[in-house]
Amino acid sequence: MSMLTIRQKGTLLKQFFRAKFSHTSTPLALRWNITSRCHNSCLYCNNHKLNRHPDLELKEIEKITQKILKLKIARLSISGGEPLLSPHFDYIVRFCKNHRISPIINSSGQYFAENLNTLKLLDLIQFSIDGDHELMNTVRGGKAALYLQQAIELAQKEKIKFSFCATLSKHNTNLKTIDYLLDLATHYKTVVAFQPIKRVYLKEAEFAEHAPRAIEMQKVVTHLLEKKRSPHSSAAIRNTELGLQHLLAWPHYGDLPCMAGKLFFVIQADGTCVACDRTDYNQNLHAINFIESDLESVLQKMRTPLCEGCGFCGNLELAHLFHFKYQVLHTLRKIA
Ligand SMILES: C[S@@+](CC[C@H](N)C(=O)[O-])C[C@H]1O[C@@H](n2cnc3c(N)ncnc32)[C@H](O)[C@@H]1O
Ligand code: SF4
Ligand code: SF4
Repeated sequence: MSMLTIRQKGTLLKQFFRAKFSHTSTPLALRWNITSRCHNSCLYCNNHKLNRHPDLELKEIEKITQKILKLKIARLSISGGEPLLSPHFDYIVRFCKNHRISPIINSSGQYFAENLNTLKLLDLIQFSIDGDHELMNTVRGGKAALYLQQAIELAQKEKIKFSFCATLSKHNTNLKTIDYLLDLATHYKTVVAFQPIKRVYLKEAEFAEHAPRAIEMQKVVTHLLEKKRSPHSSAAIRNTELGLQHLLAWPHYGDLPCMAGKLFFVIQADGTCVACDRTDYNQNLHAINFIESDLESVLQKMRTPLCEGCGFCGNLELAHLFHFKYQVLHTLRKIA
């Protein structure tokens, strides 16, 4: 599922080699949480527990985009909160298009119709999904399933590319739901990325409540690995085989080095940046003001956090890429 142009891939390759041989942060990928607002409170997410910051002013957004330009990234991953709630969503996507940066988003699908014209400009929408309608409503609350269904139908009608992202919690880590998700992706000729629940800051207590048992995770991941290795059923699985192997050890991952702060970092809704916002401690103690700081000093100060590890596809693929695992070229096509 590659939407990068040859020129963007060339830039990516150059950046990669610079990163490989430099001690300073050289981001190939960047996630920008463009708003902290979200009307959901999904069981495993800490967004509603964090201090909500009012959306930035347009002049602050402009300062951020000017700095992003200097980073020469090929792709910008736009997230939140719910990114479709940001008043600057259209401005940011058009900025990307005007500067040949490939824009992709993570979204719950809510507010899709209201943002349709902008959504048509995206290279990819990654819809978050947990399972069937009943399960979606349990995990995400309210009318989550209905909003997602409507968004999927509209995306399909308007030929907007989309894929699915499933957070593996105790609610969906079973073969029935996994096969439901794979069938759904196959039906829409797309893929699902499976990412285990992560213990995150201010949701530590709820982690035990919503995490599956290790044996359930192993069963599901083994099932995915078998399907991934079969030429007839691998197409709907976004994870690489190496990535799935890494997930077998959940929740105590092996020692694959983390690429946060080295190959990617995250710009937060308040205009600060951190290496990663998904750790189990307050990363904000290390946050750097992205709007006002000089870019060189941001890159020099950025440090890979101490973290128990994770199963996020983007991090795993960058880590495997960094260590020249055999799927490097395949990974370059999909980098997010
Ligand atoms: C934080 S949301 C932001 C974008 C949008 N609101 C959405 O739900 O897609 C991005 C992704 O993070 C996932 N996520 C949230 N909390 C998580 C956790 N504790 N562990 C793993 N993934 C998590 C969500 O399921 C979603 O796919
Ligand atoms: S996962 Fe997304 S939709 Fe759910 S609470 Fe977090 S930010 Fe909101
Ligand atoms: S291992 Fe790295 S990328 Fe993954 S959650 Fe921890 S800090 Fe973030």
